[in-house]
Amino acid sequence: MKNSCKTAKTVGCLCLLILAAPLAAFSAEAGESLENGRAAYEMSCAVCHGASGKGDIPGVPDFNKKGNSLSKSDQELFQNILNGYQSPGSFMEMPPKGGNQDLSEQDIRDIILYLREEFGKKP
Ligand code: HEC
Repeated sequence: MKNSCKTAKTVGCLCLLILAAPLAAFSAEAGESLENGRAAYEMSCAVCHGASGKGDIPGVPDFNKKGNSLSKSDQELFQNILNGYQSPGSFMEMPPKGGNQDLSEQDIRDIILYLREEFGKKP
């Protein structure tokens, strides 16, 4: 009787471990992506878009403004960051990958995550 009780406890413990492991892995991954996105943004994008996301040079959109660029889908932002972008009538274009050819597709995804987290949630 004693023995089977112990077994039940062990099984319960294992179950908890199995359930908790993917959760921990997931949040660590999300945190890593966000940190990578922040670093990549500061290195490749902030020179034009500013650390505050408001834009440090004329012609750059303010990421903090509702209804601006961040209202577009991840897919559209991804394409525009990857390939560059010029809106009709704009006098300055967004260079492909912000001019940093070393930026990977994962970096771009991480940057979009960072943009939404840092600027997209402003009231
Ligand atoms: C040389 C300056 C410059 C750099 C560097 C730069 N951008 Fe831009 N970006 C612009 C300009 C200018 C626009 C507006 C273009 C327009 O509206 O015609 C723009 C627009 C954008 C948009 C809006 C696109 C849309 O669909 O509305 C996003 C998102 C963006 N940039 C992200 C980034 C990211 C991410 C990086 C870094 C990898 C970056 N930019 C680096 C100048 C820059």
